Amino acid sequence: MIKKDFSILFIVTALCGAVTINSLSSCSKNDGDSYVDDLMSKMTLEEKIGQLNLPVGGDIQSGVVLGPQLDSLILEGNIGGFFNVKGVEEISRLQHLAVEKGPHGIPLLVGADVVHGYETIFPIPLALSCSWDSVAVERMARISAIEATADGVNWNFSPMVDICRDPRWGRIAEGSGEDPYLGSVMAKAYIRGYQGDDMKSDSTLIACVKHFALYGAAEGGRDYNTVDMSKERMFNYYLPPFQASVDAGVGSLMTSFNLVNGLHSTASKWLLNGVLRADWGFNGLVVTDYNSVPEVSTMGTASLEDAAAKSLNAGTDMDMVSGLYVKTLADAVKRGLVKEKTIDDACRRVLKIKQKLGLFEDPYKYCNVERSKKDIFTPEHRAQARSIAAETFVLLKNDNNTLPLKKKGKIALIGPLADAANNMCGCWSMLAKTENHESLLTAFRRAVGNEAEILYAKGSNIYYDETTQRNATGLRGIEYVKDDNSLRAEALAVANRADVIVAAIGESSDMSGESASRTDITIPDTQRDLLKALVKTGKPVVLLLFTGRPLVLDWESENVPAILNVWFGGSEAGDAITDVVFGDKSPQGKLTTTFPRSVGQIPLYYNHLMSSHPDPQEGVFNRYCSNYIDCSNEPLYPFGYGLSYTSFEYGKPTLSSTTLEKGGTLTLSVDVRNTGDCDGVEIVQFYLRDPIAGIARPVKELKGYQRVYIPKGETKRVVFTVNEEKLKYYNSDLEYLYEPGEFYVMVGPDSRSLQVLTFIAK
Ligand code: BGC
Repeated sequence: MIKKDFSILFIVTALCGAVTINSLSSCSKNDGDSYVDDLMSKMTLEEKIGQLNLPVGGDIQSGVVLGPQLDSLILEGNIGGFFNVKGVEEISRLQHLAVEKGPHGIPLLVGADVVHGYETIFPIPLALSCSWDSVAVERMARISAIEATADGVNWNFSPMVDICRDPRWGRIAEGSGEDPYLGSVMAKAYIRGYQGDDMKSDSTLIACVKHFALYGAAEGGRDYNTVDMSKERMFNYYLPPFQASVDAGVGSLMTSFNLVNGLHSTASKWLLNGVLRADWGFNGLVVTDYNSVPEVSTMGTASLEDAAAKSLNAGTDMDMVSGLYVKTLADAVKRGLVKEKTIDDACRRVLKIKQKLGLFEDPYKYCNVERSKKDIFTPEHRAQARSIAAETFVLLKNDNNTLPLKKKGKIALIGPLADAANNMCGCWSMLAKTENHESLLTAFRRAVGNEAEILYAKGSNIYYDETTQRNATGLRGIEYVKDDNSLRAEALAVANRADVIVAAIGESSDMSGESASRTDITIPDTQRDLLKALVKTGKPVVLLLFTGRPLVLDWESENVPAILNVWFGGSEAGDAITDVVFGDKSPQGKLTTTFPRSVGQIPLYYNHLMSSHPDPQEGVFNRYCSNYIDCSNEPLYPFGYGLSYTSFEYGKPTLSSTTLEKGGTLTLSVDVRNTGDCDGVEIVQFYLRDPIAGIARPVKELKGYQRVYIPKGETKRVVFTVNEEKLKYYNSDLEYLYEPGEFYVMVGPDSRSLQVLTFIAK
């Protein structure tokens, strides 16, 4: 039975009065361990287990299981926090209930998935990474934290740092692409933005890095599927962004849904108590993903009764949704499966996070209704979202300078995504009020004013098949119209009256993100047919591609003159797209994940190892070489690729020396000239290769980059530092080292177009 204990609340209230700032010093709630130790000494075993329970509220659905009544859990002391409740009034009511009526008056953690914005929505994380702009990402995370905390949230289930080499996996949209270096840079930027440097502020919150680990490598790109991977691959490519997050001081970490070499990550002692805590020194909170504890049993590695014990013993502190910790852990202690000390350690970590946030000093610091009225979806935040979104678009093709468009004549805007305001945001926008967002069509009309005429037609459904369309558009339905032929005929009539055609097509918002895997990653059937018909008119066509993943664009890359990949750009996507389409801004994004030519090439990624039979002649089939009979090995658009409205010319790079002494540094310099007609930003990339090492190393690895603004006609010198750290990798014994010898450095505008120099490392 759960014992209700109001004594602590009484003492706290007596000492602190109405929890005023003046009384804080006497409370010592901020004191290292003593406050938490003292509190825990008064808690029963059941109350400690209660702190490990994280039920879902139920306002917002992000998983299969729905939430129980939070009030009774709070009164019973069977809860450490909750998530998926929106709105400061309700959150405040629950927080008051916990503090005033719950055992010991312990405040609650309030979680949410504020992954790319709260109500001001920014582009999906994959798009954000294509800006390569960590300062912008930090700014977006700061704004997200300001808005979320203003509405009562104190714990953010972001960033998602899973490396992904398989675009069939829908959750590729939520991460920073395929590269561990860039992924680490971005992870740190998110964490700085969310947590800031003062966790006691009322506008910072605890970040939660997820999903630990290897979730992005789900077999076949099918969500929730198995992962089996060598440790060499894990440590060199998949784990670095997690380690970088720990180094950046992330407060919490979420386990993943998948097996890691036969064990559910949530119950993997090696992964959690070993790698994460013992090796990396993480001392924050570990929470499961949605309902993962019983899934430890589903996946065949513990009985349902023992799944909680196994997860806790592995290092998982908090149980999201399932309630199995509360149901089974006390009994597991009796059965000798779990030590009380293990429960104490987990409970302490939950309480320490609350202490870190300053919740014991002021449990209502995030319950400020005034802030919620003025700090959310503000003009300033929206202006930032607009400007950041424009940085994320990637210009894949631009024959004859089709883009930017002039604001004149008749422009036909055609496609099922042209007037779908609720489909601009992308996967994690359940917290947004999409009714406040505008469609691309509205933004186009405003942008051109009286200077040009915007004609519009929907042109097609998302898919020919109604069921597939329903699967693809789930939460943010796009109306299905019975007859695709008449939609297309209408669109062609509109197109024939126009001077230029802009096709707003691709994936609908729910075709990427969780539980949105695809086997065919081309533009959906009816939309592709629409595009073909539009191209056939002979008029210039611009493809504005909405997508949450790399698509196979074989036909499009051959036949459509201009392709601007706009991903899902957030609440201000419409204006951001017009900024770029009409040339107020030049595109500057570059891909952070490879675009394959064919789904059969997957997994396809730039930092691959050498095969035993390298292909000597790319593009020609060579028997007994590592190639395909029916397709080149090369991607369609490589990692790092992206065009601009201007052009850049790279000079000959130089190295300060051809020898890197032990403990020394080299500099790699290159001059980049803007040779085009407008100012622009270029993302200059630096790669490295270790041709002979203890274990095979990739043909190239990103080791640095710089975003440089270069006015037209001007030249900028870009300088990179090469040091021993850049050469290191994990060998088969998981030692982090490098072996002296020859190395290649490469510099250029993308991972395919590189100039190479060599040096010897001592
Ligand atoms: C997702 C997590 C998310 C959680 C809570 C899960 O289904 O995998 O990324 O944080 O739900 O909404």
